[in-house]
Amino acid sequence: MTVDGDSCLTDEMQNPIIAALDVPNAEMAWDLVQQLIPVVGAFKIGSELFTSAGPSIVRSIRQAGGSVFLDLKFHDIPNTVAKAVAAAVELDVQMLTVHTSGGTAMLQAAEDSVHATARRLGKTSPLILGVTVLTSLDGNELGAVGFESNVGRQVERLAALAVSAGLRGLVCSPLEVVALRSIVPASVQLVTPGIRAEGDQANDQKRTLSPQEALAAGANWLVIGRPIYAASNPRAAAEKILASLPLSSR
Ligand code: C5P
Repeated sequence: MTVDGDSCLTDEMQNPIIAALDVPNAEMAWDLVQQLIPVVGAFKIGSELFTSAGPSIVRSIRQAGGSVFLDLKFHDIPNTVAKAVAAAVELDVQMLTVHTSGGTAMLQAAEDSVHATARRLGKTSPLILGVTVLTSLDGNELGAVGFESNVGRQVERLAALAVSAGLRGLVCSPLEVVALRSIVPASVQLVTPGIRAEGDQANDQKRTLSPQEALAAGANWLVIGRPIYAASNPRAAAEKILASLPLSSR
């Protein structure tokens, strides 16, 4: 995967699959990476694996030629987020997440930091993805923390805020991808989890789309966890999903 800083060009048309490495330790992650590296576009490292395995798992994947989506959902004062983002650029990740509810100043600090650090290091700016409303929150819970209790409206409000602050990408649920695609510029990259092919178990995902449906709805990247890492043959599962995608027609 390549992400070109300002024009935000990506080669997701070749392989939009981001395999979520939702496993507890470096050994299990590395085993998956070795199987999957030729057949996925990137690997997502979240809080569990990063807390357990640390930055060395990111370095190992980069050395092996894989792309990394660091999903740590930064949310703090602008100065702290800017420094965390700079550290992620130094680590050479290709995508990372921040919470859009951190506000405009925090989002702008993140974007400024990603570009300034990438320029200093002579590399391409990673894509910062804004997380809007966690899919685990319903209207009641949103209202209880003092937010707009209509989930759809809150998602659109935070997405608009993120785009006006300069973010070039958003994480969105399958429920939101069509609505967001219609209100954000075409250059904004949409990354969608909750992907299940026909016959897959939904697990705890309440609303899913197939890989083909998500791309047709306007997603640029598909985050896929259990259908790949929990399969008896993860490589074969990823190959099957990749072969099912109408990439040449996109
Ligand atoms: O196993 P599964 O395909 O459901 O994994 C989806 C991945 O996407 C997990 O890493 C999960 O944390 C992440 N995710 C999600 N829903 C969101 C945001 C992220 O499932 N709204």
